[in-house]
Amino acid sequence: MSSSYENSNYTLERKDMLLGKTISIIFTAPVYAKNNRLIIGNGKFIPWLGKVSSDLKRFKKLTLNQTVIMGRKTWDSLEHKPLPDRQNIILSRNPDIIFEPSDIPLKDWTFLEIGVTKSFESAILMAKSQTVWIIGGAEIYKLALPYVDYIHRTLISGRFDGDIFFPEYNLNEWRKDKEKSIFLKAKELENTMDEYDSFYEVFERKEVI
Ligand SMILES: NC(=O)c1ccc[n+]([C@@H]2O[C@H](COP(=O)([O-])OP(=O)(O)OC[C@H]3O[C@@H](n4cnc5c(N)ncnc54)[C@H](OP(=O)(O)O)[C@@H]3O)[C@@H](O)[C@H]2O)c1
Repeated sequence: MSSSYENSNYTLERKDMLLGKTISIIFTAPVYAKNNRLIIGNGKFIPWLGKVSSDLKRFKKLTLNQTVIMGRKTWDSLEHKPLPDRQNIILSRNPDIIFEPSDIPLKDWTFLEIGVTKSFESAILMAKSQTVWIIGGAEIYKLALPYVDYIHRTLISGRFDGDIFFPEYNLNEWRKDKEKSIFLKAKELENTMDEYDSFYEVFERKEVI
């Protein structure tokens, strides 16, 4: 991973702007990087989606009843179906065209709110939960990185092609939480449909002096 960290300098002043909320990025990528960059998507989609169900289950468990923030293109890839039982906030510079959710009946969801906003800071201020989850894609991860406290990443041991990448960040600024990080061997898992082994890792930002 590159050590360049331009446009993403974390400062305590920036954190103050976010009313003390905890900001967590969550993403999945194949362990095999392309040109040293972690692939997170191919065109509109995630090529390994549905092939590592333990990761989806964990994603759901972590984010349920909390706020998720995503970019308009990720919202498009969800076909405008908000993630159920979460406050969904979508970032766009042109909110008018995307506010319409899909025709799935809203009564199916117990905790649903869709917000569209033009700036990352206002998205955080709209967020109702104390922990706010940044769920992609690449543009929004890049916007969020200067504010982020935790990175939850799952590396999948499969080879996939892609053209959307997680932004560069400096691993030296992060401390791995070894207790939370786990390696899952697909063949040994019960009650999941995992086709690939996966490594789930949690990184906490080192203290800023
Ligand atoms: N592997 C993973 O964990 C994961 C997770 C999520 C998504 N993905 C993948 O990532 C890809 C999408 O990522 P992406 O980078 O192309 O798009 P994205 O980050 O999902 O969305 C980009 C859009 O966000 C809006 N935006 C960006 N900066 C903004 C700002 N400063 N203020 C307001 N709005 C802003 C713009 O929307 P407007 O154009 O409407 O203005 C922009 O076009 C897809 O392939 C998806 O499947 C992967």
